Amino acid sequence: MEGFQWNRPVSLVLYVVFFFLSSAAVSEANIAEYDEHWEQRRLQARAAAEATYHPDPVEVTNSFNRAVHRAMKEESSARRQMLGKHHRFSGPCMATNPIDRCWRCRKDWATDRMRLAQCAQGFGRNTTGGLGGKIYIVTDGSDDDVLEPRPGTLRWGVIQTEPLWIIFARSMLIELKEELLVGSDKTIDGRGAQVRFADGCQITVQYAHNVIIHNIHLNDLIVGKGGRIRDSPQHAGFRTQSDGDGVSVFGSTKVWLDHLSLANCQDGLVDVIAESTGVTISNCHLTNHNDVMLFGSSDSNPKDEIMQITVAFNHFGRGLVQRMPRCRWGFFHVVNNDYTHWLMYAIGGSKNPTIISHGNRYIAPPNLAAKQVTKQIGAAEAEWRNWVWHSQEDLLMNGAVFNNTGGDNQRKFDQNDLINPKDGSYVTRLTRFAGSMPCRTGKPC
Ligand SMILES: *[C@@H]1O[C@H](CO)[C@@H](O)[C@H](O)[C@H]1NC(C)=O
Ligand SMILES: *[C@@H]1O[C@H](CO)[C@@H](O)[C@H](O)[C@H]1NC(C)=O
Repeated sequence: MEGFQWNRPVSLVLYVVFFFLSSAAVSEANIAEYDEHWEQRRLQARAAAEATYHPDPVEVTNSFNRAVHRAMKEESSARRQMLGKHHRFSGPCMATNPIDRCWRCRKDWATDRMRLAQCAQGFGRNTTGGLGGKIYIVTDGSDDDVLEPRPGTLRWGVIQTEPLWIIFARSMLIELKEELLVGSDKTIDGRGAQVRFADGCQITVQYAHNVIIHNIHLNDLIVGKGGRIRDSPQHAGFRTQSDGDGVSVFGSTKVWLDHLSLANCQDGLVDVIAESTGVTISNCHLTNHNDVMLFGSSDSNPKDEIMQITVAFNHFGRGLVQRMPRCRWGFFHVVNNDYTHWLMYAIGGSKNPTIISHGNRYIAPPNLAAKQVTKQIGAAEAEWRNWVWHSQEDLLMNGAVFNNTGGDNQRKFDQNDLINPKDGSYVTRLTRFAGSMPCRTGKPC
């Protein structure tokens, strides 16, 4: 129950509401003043999660794999055609993965930014962010007033009720004074500028839906002390300390994180917890961190079975230790990522998560005790032997070992059912542009 400070009289209604809450989720929610506003948002979030949950996750993994095959075929035939032509051609678009091919090869990305809303793949593929809303330009990189943010700041934009496509007037370093509470139907689009969040607090997507965060750097983020923070034009409330993650996705649906560079934060780099679902984390470059990604934070919340997350085309790089990701309860498609460094293990989990490892490259560290890609946590072998953790077309290097577990028991994973992933030997090409990219207006990115 830590996190609750009832420092004012509370109505009976609120008391009753509070009483029926799933206290596990709420006590970690950093909400010090749990009022009707947050209760409404929580209920809406739960309904959205139920609507977003895909009853046939294999359909989603198949269509992801199909899209990768298609994109690579297009790319190599474009390459062949161009090779035969005259020399003035500046080279074919190098975007080999289907997410990037959707927008990066186009000169007009800066005037047609909302095209990105069609480009997601995987469980977060229906995320459209601020599509259909106005473009909002961040002109002021400061964050002095978390209670009454000024127009022109990022904080002012992300708390608005309407959809907004948020871009940046120039390169900037943003030091968030407290966690940034991002509302529904927003895109934070850092293309065309070098946008870095450093030395301040985290980005939080809490009880919200439909959020894209794209092409920014996040590093050295720390715990925020909490206090009164505005989360919408009509509402501000007391918060406890924030965690010091890079991005925290809490009770939220349809979230797509793409082309982020993440390093060295106080807690996790990306947390997706509290019944969040419909999430894709793609094209990110992650470095210098211990607990990298956490999917589900509680062994005692079986409602987290609703989590469906795609982790694709990321580069798990230098200085990483463990949790890439660390999973509980849900369904996780970990596909075509490059794991070049880990010190303890790459993928871990507890509470019977389903982990489909497709076409990744796993390069084990020299340490003989750390060759296992996976780590089962908090269960005896007799139990975890039944968890469905499947490796297919992964490239295992330097002695890396992935021991499959589980059968086809609860869900169908027949060979006939599956579209094979693109195999792990293609991963260096698929992830070559992971992380935040410098994109220039008027040129393909
Ligand atoms: C995305 O939306 C389409 C159309 O509404 C739906 O059929 C599909 O299941 C959704 N995909 C995911 C992954 O939720
Ligand atoms: C894991 O797989 C390796 C070969 O890939 C095998 O040598 C080893 O015995 C397996 N370990 C377990 C616990 O099954």
